[in-house]
Amino acid sequence: MKEQLAKIRAEALAAFQAARDASELDALRVQYLGKKGELTGVLKMMGKLSAEERPAMGQLANEVRAALEQAIEVTSQKLSEAALVQQLKDEALDVTIPGTQVKMGHKHPMYIALDEIKDIFIGMGFTVLDGPEVELAEYNFDRLNAEEGHPSRDWSDTFYFDEDSRVMLRSQTSPMQVRAMDSMELPIRIVAPGRVYRKDEVDATHSPMFHQVEGMVIDKGVTMADLKGTLNTVVEQLYGKGTKTRFRPHHFPFTEPSCEMDVQCHKCGGVGCPTCKGEGWIELLGAGMIHPKVLQMAGIDTEIYSGWAFGIGLERTAMRRFKIADLRLIFENDIRFLEQF
Ligand code: PHE
Repeated sequence: MKEQLAKIRAEALAAFQAARDASELDALRVQYLGKKGELTGVLKMMGKLSAEERPAMGQLANEVRAALEQAIEVTSQKLSEAALVQQLKDEALDVTIPGTQVKMGHKHPMYIALDEIKDIFIGMGFTVLDGPEVELAEYNFDRLNAEEGHPSRDWSDTFYFDEDSRVMLRSQTSPMQVRAMDSMELPIRIVAPGRVYRKDEVDATHSPMFHQVEGMVIDKGVTMADLKGTLNTVVEQLYGKGTKTRFRPHHFPFTEPSCEMDVQCHKCGGVGCPTCKGEGWIELLGAGMIHPKVLQMAGIDTEIYSGWAFGIGLERTAMRRFKIADLRLIFENDIRFLEQF
């Protein structure tokens, strides 16, 4: 038994020495000192020894156990130090190496204009709404007082999904007026920006997809004077104090009276130049007092409430704001163009 203990001791110490990492060392600990380990196996045979032999052998066995445990302790310490050194080496970071520059993008000019418009209206207590681009004719036409047969419903102008012309890509953001009336408590003050679609050929001022911002107010005693006052304030904030506007009579099925608003040409100051095609004014938006029929279809009492609405072309606003001559530049995403803003 004495020889056996000496053999285990020598073997174990050599094996511990050779362990390459903590898990190998742990496996060895189990192999020698575990419940079914080699040393434990020898200790179990102690019972067979005579009473005289037992104390000396017991002491020796304890010494071997203590020696192995201490060796494990020391080796484990050594391995973890080595592991740390290796980790530090692997993760070494040279802070003097020049970094790779991150190229930051920036806002598209049209979204700069949109954010300005939103800020102005939010400042006046309006809520910003979002709505579907795939719209029902019910909202895009019927409830906006554009009955079957109205020219704006023609297949040559509108992208329909079905034979019956009930589902479509919205041709204007005005259906958001109806959606707001259906879902919000009175009084209502909203702006609703988004994409709209029409069957137009692409040229310097047209695109089959473009953006509008719808605006609407419904409250007690709202008049055309409120519409003009609000829009004049917005235009002055967008284009500078003293910017002149002009309201011309127009027709929309869902407003009565209806108008278009022009802004004095920023290039010539109203004298007439190529930018404004000699007019001195540039058309910016359509607007009007919401037609009583539209309010009534939404269940709003027209004896108490009235409202106004407008729809502004966003590309056109951005073009004016940044003096961009061709609409196509807004959609082409040419970096050389976009970098200028
Ligand atoms: N929806 C109209 C258009 O697309 C604009 C408009 C909006 C007119 C609201 C009046 C009121 O031309």
